[in-house]
This record gives sequence, C-alpha cells and structure tokens, in this order.
Amino acid sequence: MVKSVETTNPNYTKPGIKAPVQETLLTPRFYTTDFEAVANLDISANETELEAIVAELRADYNRHHFVRDEEFQQSWEHVDGEKRRAFIDFLERSCTSEFSGFLLFKELSRRLKAKNPLLADAFNYMARDEARHAGFLNKSMADFNLSLDLSYLTKHRTYTFFPPEWVIYTVYLSEKIGYWRYILIHRHIQANPEYQFYPLFRKFESWCQDENRHGDFFKALLRSQPKLWNNWKARLWVRFFLLTVFVTHTITVFERASFYEAIGIHPRKYNNTVIQETNNTSARAFPVILNTNHPEFFWRLEQCFINTQRLTEIKESNRPGIIKFWEKISPTWAIISHMLRLYLIKPINTESTRATVS
Ligand SMILES: [Fe+2]
Ligand SMILES: [Fe+2]
Repeated sequence: MVKSVETTNPNYTKPGIKAPVQETLLTPRFYTTDFEAVANLDISANETELEAIVAELRADYNRHHFVRDEEFQQSWEHVDGEKRRAFIDFLERSCTSEFSGFLLFKELSRRLKAKNPLLADAFNYMARDEARHAGFLNKSMADFNLSLDLSYLTKHRTYTFFPPEWVIYTVYLSEKIGYWRYILIHRHIQANPEYQFYPLFRKFESWCQDENRHGDFFKALLRSQPKLWNNWKARLWVRFFLLTVFVTHTITVFERASFYEAIGIHPRKYNNTVIQETNNTSARAFPVILNTNHPEFFWRLEQCFINTQRLTEIKESNRPGIIKFWEKISPTWAIISHMLRLYLIKPINTESTRATVS
C-alpha cells in the first residue's frame, strides 16, 4: 500500500504569488554548463539525423496547441481540500521543471549562435516549446488563484553546474521520462473521462510529442559523441544516471500519491510503468539499460522512498539535534545500500541488439 504524504498549504510572497517550495535534492533543479565545450562539440558523425530533427522542431507542429479554450473559462473553487493542494503542487513542480529547461536551452542557444548554428537553432526551438509549457502551467496555477514568480525564480534559485556529458545524459532522460509521464496520464484520462477534473490533461497528447522530439534531439546528439557510449566509463555513468532518475521518480510519485489517486491512477503501477517504458526507450540511446525485471528492482526503489520518509519524520521532529543526527544514520545508510545493490544488478547490453531496437 502506498502511503500518501499530505501536501502542505502553499506559502505566498505576495497575494496570489506563490513562494517557491523549499529547495531539496528532489525539487526540479536549474542547470548551467560549460557553454564553450558544447559549442565546440564535433557533431559531424551524426549531422544528418540532427538536421532532420531540427527540421521537425522548426516545423513547430504545436504552435496552435497551447490555447486556453472556453473549457478553462470557469471557476475551479469546487476543486478543494487535498485534491486541490496536491494538484497545485503538481502544477508547480511541472512548471518549475519546464521553466528550468527553458532557461538552459535559451542560454545554450544564445551562447552557441556564432560557433554552432545547427545546435543553436535546436536549443532555440526547444526553449520556445518549454516557455509555452511553463507559461501554460503557470496560467493553470492562476486558475487556482496562484502563480509562480518566474523572474524571482530565475534570480534566486541556485544553479547546479553539470559538464556537457552529464547534461546530455540527464536532459535526454528527463525529456523521455517527461514524455511517458504525460502520455500515460493522457491515456488513462481518455479511457476514464470521469477523472478529468481540469482540462489540462486533455492537452498532454500533443504536449508530450514536444518532449519526445526534445528527447530525440538529445539522443542524436549523444550518438554523435562516441565517447558517451562506446566505453566502460560511459556504461558506468549511464547506469548511474538511469538509477538516480528512477529513484527520484519513485520518491516523488509516492510522496505525491494523493495527486495520482485523485485522478484515479494507482501510484505504484504508474511509477513502475513510467520507469519500465523510459528504461526500454533509452535502449535507443544508451549502451546499457537497467534490468527492471529483476525481482528486487522495484522493491529496492520503494525501500529508498520509505527511508526518505523516515528522514523527513526525523527532520521534522522536535528532538535535539544530536539525537536527530544519530537517528538519521540508519535510514541514510539504508538508502545508500539499496542504491548500491540496485547499481550492481547486471545491466542489459543494448549495443549488441542495436540493429533491432533503433
Ligand atoms: Fe516541456
Ligand atoms: Fe522538453
């Protein structure tokens, strides 16, 4: 049984402007990178595929999609209680991560313009899409009398530095997991329209095609850099990033179980399907993928969630700091050891079957 964590009431910086949630390892992060190194990437090994994807991005299939039609023009006061709080939390997380993508892509496009115009174009089109996504989510928050101060977020969030290789691995994964998250919610709501309490979910089908194209661009970029997939170091990094993305996803889905239950989705089934599909999709880009069919795989992921819950309980207790310090050791060690055991499960080699999965 998934234990749902009650969502806290939002804080305000000024009336109607929501204060960003406290930054933790699990909140969507803002990234910066070595722009010079990205500009100098030699993409000639996969230029034709990259050009084809940039042409797709240029076509801008969704330019008329993000319209707030009459369905949105009504009061949403009847969505209340835990459902309202959980939905606002979902909107905020999604808006922050879309906006984080926008800032990174916009900056990459600006810095690469002179040296690498093909990549600069791609980042420019993807920034356009992410700005639309973030804007649409922020307007949805406004329907619930809240909005995120995006310029405040830009200035006050800390930016995490990732070298270009890590950016390529992690953004590829976040685009593909984003695709699966949106499409699975969309398919579920289509089959069970009684859960459509707000028309946003109707938009997800075309929306997730944007994320799919972004993911395809990063796949083509990754395959243009053989050192990102043809050696043992790359295989170790890929396993690490797949695992951290899946652990983070499990924790955030189980923490927000009340949101998924409000739209009739079983959090565990949803989490497992998103992870399995994302893992299978990444076989097209990565030299190895994880063995999600291993009998301990999902059990250990859930143990990571259970231990983060223990850590939260300890953190929020009124016990003295020194007691809390000792109490935290066991759950912290449990998370590390579960992740280590997951990391050591024999991965699946995808290079040997590349001809059949590409
Ligand atoms: Fe997006
Ligand atoms: Fe995206």
